[in-house]
Amino acid sequence: MPSLELLRARARAQLEANSREATLNGRRHRFTVPAVASYPFQWFWDSCFHAIAWVHFDVERAADELRALLAWQRPNGFIPHVVFWDRRHTMNRSWHWLESRAWVGAPFVPVAAGKPATSELIQPPVLAQALERVFDAGGGDEVLRDLLPGVTRYHRWLLAERDADDDGLVSIVAPSESGLDFSPAYDAALGLTRNPGALRLNAAMRLVTLRNKLRGWSAHRILHAPGSFAVEDVLVNSCLIAGLTALARLAEAAGDTEDAAWAGAQAERSLDALLERSYDPAAGTFWNLNGPYEEPATVHTIVSLMPLMLRMLPRAVAEELVDGQLTRPDRFWPRYPVPSVALHEPEFRADSRVDGRERIWRGGTWVNTNWFLVHGLRQHGFDDEANEIRAATLELIERHGFREYFDPLNGAPGGAQGFGWSTLAIDL
Ligand code: GLC
Repeated sequence: MPSLELLRARARAQLEANSREATLNGRRHRFTVPAVASYPFQWFWDSCFHAIAWVHFDVERAADELRALLAWQRPNGFIPHVVFWDRRHTMNRSWHWLESRAWVGAPFVPVAAGKPATSELIQPPVLAQALERVFDAGGGDEVLRDLLPGVTRYHRWLLAERDADDDGLVSIVAPSESGLDFSPAYDAALGLTRNPGALRLNAAMRLVTLRNKLRGWSAHRILHAPGSFAVEDVLVNSCLIAGLTALARLAEAAGDTEDAAWAGAQAERSLDALLERSYDPAAGTFWNLNGPYEEPATVHTIVSLMPLMLRMLPRAVAEELVDGQLTRPDRFWPRYPVPSVALHEPEFRADSRVDGRERIWRGGTWVNTNWFLVHGLRQHGFDDEANEIRAATLELIERHGFREYFDPLNGAPGGAQGFGWSTLAIDL
């Protein structure tokens, strides 16, 4: 295991190397790109993780990371999942165009005016958890005054816009909104048969995005249209509940009793809904719910374990998840846990490749999901399991640096190098 000092020095150097500055409406902003070569923009949940890592070095810098995100908040509360600060990089990449409002200039015609400034998607709402960390690290009243109103507005928007059936669970309208782009958790909702090929997977994802774009990115239109991709996602809703819980505490600290009461009540309501609808007592796990009839997507992925991040999760359910899923050697407990897909599923790919092409989240071990699990397990008193995941994660980082993901069987690194959120290792 590397010395803590060395790991800290490396993490800080990585965050600094990925740090960027840009101006919006006359104001200078600082943010961190996920990876200089392959992800040269600002991503929503990456920035939340980056802020949590920055807290270890520079609380003001951590707060700025969130300020840069909130600078793009729309009047209705929405915050985009990607901000294309430097639009020179958006040339010749069709997904920039597809996920945005822009109709001209892309995918292949380099007309600067038509290039998108942001995507129209969301990502898992880790924002309030990140703000809570910044506040607890000494961000003080200033960060509450600056950032809490926007963060609260974002949560109110999410619930108003994305809970079409008013059951307390929000829906995502594209796989990328979960942050786990190609995870097999979304194959069924994409209309794919089990274990699809790489090209079909891509085509199905592009089609969903195109249909959403044709519906003007209106969640109301998308969620009510037959055949839409509409998933009540376990990871996204777990983040929502954890976020609302953090929000209730922060609002209380800011003396805003009305928002505190709203967030607390909403967290309870959403947790009840998650337990009632998405937990399958016979299987001892949680499933994503697809479409208006809430069809469970019964494939074992990391998504199913994410409710462990919730302090209020009943003990019996946490035990089921840990003993019946997480620590089973044939499921989620290989040499380098925790794989993004259970080992026994036909979709599991140790090297994150389908037909020889990289398809992320189809098996690899990632630092951010390990981060959720380590802290979640500790909250529930599973310290041995938390320590094992922590040790495996630190070993991977020490050997290979801050890579995007790792092979859960042999630890081989994959994806981007110098990957920002892998610095979360210092927060384990
Ligand atoms: C990939 C990941 C997504 C992340 C993005 C930038 O698309 O799936 O979760 O936000 O890269 O790092």
